[in-house]
Amino acid sequence: MQKVLLEVKNLSKIYETVAALAGAKKRLIPALSNVDLQIYKGETLGLVGESGCGKSTLAKLITLLEKPSSGSILHEGQNIFSYGKKDLKSYRRRVQLVFQDPYSSLNARRSAAAIIEEPLIIQGQRDKQKRKQDVLKLMEQVGLTRQQANRYPHEFSGGQRQRIGIARALILRPELIVADEPVSALDVSIQAQILNLLKRLKNDFGLTYLFISHDLNVIRHMSDRVAVMYLGRIVELADNRDIYDNPLHPYTRLLLSAAPSYAVFDDKIMTRITGEAGTAPENGCSFQNRCAYKRESCSLLQPPLKEIAPGRYCACHWAGES
Ligand SMILES: Nc1ncnc2c1ncn2[C@@H]1O[C@H](COP(=O)(O)OP(=O)(O)OP(=O)(O)O)[C@@H](O)[C@H]1O
Ligand SMILES: [Mg+2]
Repeated sequence: MQKVLLEVKNLSKIYETVAALAGAKKRLIPALSNVDLQIYKGETLGLVGESGCGKSTLAKLITLLEKPSSGSILHEGQNIFSYGKKDLKSYRRRVQLVFQDPYSSLNARRSAAAIIEEPLIIQGQRDKQKRKQDVLKLMEQVGLTRQQANRYPHEFSGGQRQRIGIARALILRPELIVADEPVSALDVSIQAQILNLLKRLKNDFGLTYLFISHDLNVIRHMSDRVAVMYLGRIVELADNRDIYDNPLHPYTRLLLSAAPSYAVFDDKIMTRITGEAGTAPENGCSFQNRCAYKRESCSLLQPPLKEIAPGRYCACHWAGES
């Protein structure tokens, strides 16, 4: 049995947009709806889905940057949203976020070394000499040099800046890294270098990853298991190979057939490829308006995420049939 590191339970997040004018209606945006997910210790769980489907919202909830509207996230059996001060501090050390855009997430007025060192100071590591040693060693482990320690973010390339962001996330020796589109802002030629670095660091530091990307190639390269998200819901969750070789959910099939590097294996899907996500219908399955397999009952009931085979989950009334 694999050890569960983090358990997301029935998690929902509804954003409320602020009304610009007095009397204007507030808009409610259901960014996440009833998400259930387990992250196993030592795995890379890939999270994929189109822009706006709620990937970053999940990342922000796991890293305590946002509060949920309902539901919980359990870490060692305790709900992280009801942690006291001491547990919060410990959790914030153990779970770290790597951002998409290393430029806007790094303080432009601080040197690389100061940026990487800051979490140690916040966590109360008082030994200045030890802090400095730790920072320099880690800089080398992420492929930077000691000579670069006193340089500022603008003096680095995009890939090097992401290395600084990764070092900052690792300095407190976390157990879980939530990487939210960590290579999307980088040139394709640099992406592979950073992905391979992340893989190596995972081994060296014994990490677990929640790896978020909209890019199916990147997700395939990195993940042990893959969760596919559509309009705030997990619609399919399975081992990497099952997702790519035998996708069950019509949305996963659509994503794969739309990706240039994957063979088109489903004619039915290709006829419906023009649809866009938009908002979910009021009743029934969120995907029904774009689904090539829609049947009558799909407009009545939202299909729950069911276990179709051991470790294979799919939220479609007809999973396994079509
Ligand atoms: N602070 C906010 N206030 C209001 N709505 C928000 C806020 N943050 C996100 N949203 C909305 O919530 C939904 C989910 O957004 P989220 O950023 O989680 O998507 P995403 O999957 O990360 O997209 P992308 O691939 O573009 O990064 C979107 O409709 C977005 O507009
Ligand atoms: Mg995002």
